[in-house]
Amino acid sequence: MTERTLVLLKPDAHRRGLIGEIIGRIERKAGWEITALELRTLDAGTLEQHYGEHQGKPFYEPLMGFMQSGPVVALIVEGERVVEGVRRLAGPTDPIAAAPGSIRGDFGTIVRENLIHASDSPESAEREVALFFPGCV
Ligand code: TYD
Ligand code: MG
Repeated sequence: MTERTLVLLKPDAHRRGLIGEIIGRIERKAGWEITALELRTLDAGTLEQHYGEHQGKPFYEPLMGFMQSGPVVALIVEGERVVEGVRRLAGPTDPIAAAPGSIRGDFGTIVRENLIHASDSPESAEREVALFFPGCV
């Protein structure tokens, strides 16, 4: 089924020069297409909406700080089973638990700085697309 997902390449990916590497992995998947792409620094309000489900958890405030520590690259990717597919390319949240070959497994070591966000369901994807690319709704 063709669908779309919202991807954020986090400030650590930008700082470490991994933007091209990560976008390349997404781009090489057959049939997937990048339909929006923007480099931008996120404000607290946008992040509160994006990570609202985590408000009150111990990692929330450090996560907010980290996500504002530099620019992110936001993308919409469209294609066959792209929500599940980008989550698989990214790997699990903890980069040490993530398998080699995944983005987090290849490049990350600590949970907060895990390089990439990808929507976890088609419903989350539509909410996140509306937040980051209101012109694409
Ligand atoms: P979560 O939505 O659980 O993970 P994912 O990005 O895989 O969907 O958490 C959001 C982000 O919060 C996660 O990418 C990194 C950060 N985080 C921490 O810093 N510590 C933690 O213990 C967890 C669970 C997440
Ligand atoms: Mg999540």
